[in-house]
Amino acid sequence: MLKNKERFEKNTAKVYIQTFGCQMNEYDSERILYFLGKEGYVRTFNIEKSDIIVFNTCSVREKPVNKLYGHIGRLKKLKKLNPQLLICVGGCTAQNLKDKILKDLPYVDIVFGTHNISELPELIKRRRLTNNSVCLVRESGFDYDLEKVKRDIKFKAYVPIIIGCNNYCSYCIVPYVRGRERSILPTNIIECIKKLVAGGVLEITLLGQNVNSYGKDLHEPMSFSSLLDKVSHIEGLKRIRFMTSHPKDFSEEIINVIKKRENVANHIHLPLQSGSEKILGLMNRKYTAYEFLKIIDFARKELPDCLITTDIIVGFPGEDRNDFLETLNIMREVRFSRAFTFIYSPRKGTKAYSMADSITMQEKKEWFRELVEVQNKISYEENKKLVGKKFEVLVEGKSKKDEGILMGRLENSTLVNFKGNEDSTGKILQVNITKAKSFYLLGDLCAT
Ligand code: SAH
Ligand code: SF4
Ligand code: F3S
Repeated sequence: MLKNKERFEKNTAKVYIQTFGCQMNEYDSERILYFLGKEGYVRTFNIEKSDIIVFNTCSVREKPVNKLYGHIGRLKKLKKLNPQLLICVGGCTAQNLKDKILKDLPYVDIVFGTHNISELPELIKRRRLTNNSVCLVRESGFDYDLEKVKRDIKFKAYVPIIIGCNNYCSYCIVPYVRGRERSILPTNIIECIKKLVAGGVLEITLLGQNVNSYGKDLHEPMSFSSLLDKVSHIEGLKRIRFMTSHPKDFSEEIINVIKKRENVANHIHLPLQSGSEKILGLMNRKYTAYEFLKIIDFARKELPDCLITTDIIVGFPGEDRNDFLETLNIMREVRFSRAFTFIYSPRKGTKAYSMADSITMQEKKEWFRELVEVQNKISYEENKKLVGKKFEVLVEGKSKKDEGILMGRLENSTLVNFKGNEDSTGKILQVNITKAKSFYLLGDLCAT
């Protein structure tokens, strides 16, 4: 067997990659694998046998940052056993905290930012020629090319349409680590999706921090709803999903496209964050709770079966019990099918970081627990409404818990487990829903 050094020399080094954070980061990991694959490097899922370890990091809350430190801390031993091993840290924490990483974690070899993924192979070569770690974190840039990505899954794909964010919600680090909004040309998006579909992809997810801002910066401006409509006319494309939508510029046209076009998923992910007008103002969300409810009313009227999901932050600076209760009230009124709930995490460099915060962590945790309890019950009741109905399920593979069970998703991304044959992976099958849980459904394959 070749030794680590020889594998580098023969350009067959093994790459282990771990991704934290959002779908955009998952997509970026596919780009990292593309650029490393072009050098000849091969992916491995065994960290102990790898020559290059890449952490594609997230900085949105403290927790993923701490996790990263934990993971890298544990690699010290591996690095001692194999001094040729290269540890690379990329993504949003690298962009945000490069100096801290280099100072705290001296056995990290390479730090690279969100704007210079395509330069990673060059950095690896540079690192192998010196005794010091190398760091390249550009302030801004744009190295997205929809052709340059290595996808392992053949039946579904992420396609970014807009990178960065201009919204500056006061709690959020994303605009600082991803830069200003830049839309990808519609012709490139359409071409890319056509190729994916020709290669067997059935479902695509259009990605952006705020997809509704799509096209405003283009030489020939174009709205997100018209892009969505165009994409939906690509022959053979079975399912189109998109995320995330910002309520401040969510348009009725988007709802009209979902209604009109069969292959656009009946799902809207619309982060509310808080139900209190005061807190929404402090968060700089630029919409009121009233405006949010108006969008939901319109969506429910036009799309009675549409699944609506959201994100909520608990314990924002200045939030008191009454503000929190207003959030709970809206949750009960809207009845989101799912909610991604977070305790506010102060991020250095954001506006909210310096806002006075008098609520204790213990209290925040208590509110959080209350919120999760209310939401779980609603999620369960909403899922129960689907029992007895028949849906198309895109099969994603075996269930993690039970070998004999397959896992798939409805078009609105609800998880379904059912008995079936693994050969069905990547196919769309008809499934009868037999039982509901808070987070997923159980079903039986329909006889064909
Ligand atoms: N662009 C998307 C998602 C951004 S991050 C949007 O605007 O919705 C995903 C979610 O993380 C956010 O919706 C928010 O609920 C949460 N989040 C972001 N910053 C946070 C912070 N500092 N503390 C806790 N949750 C945060
Ligand atoms: Fe962050 Fe707000 Fe931008 Fe979403 S819209 S990425 S929450 S700043
Ligand atoms: Fe995290 Fe960066 Fe995404 S901070 S949520 S990985 S854009």
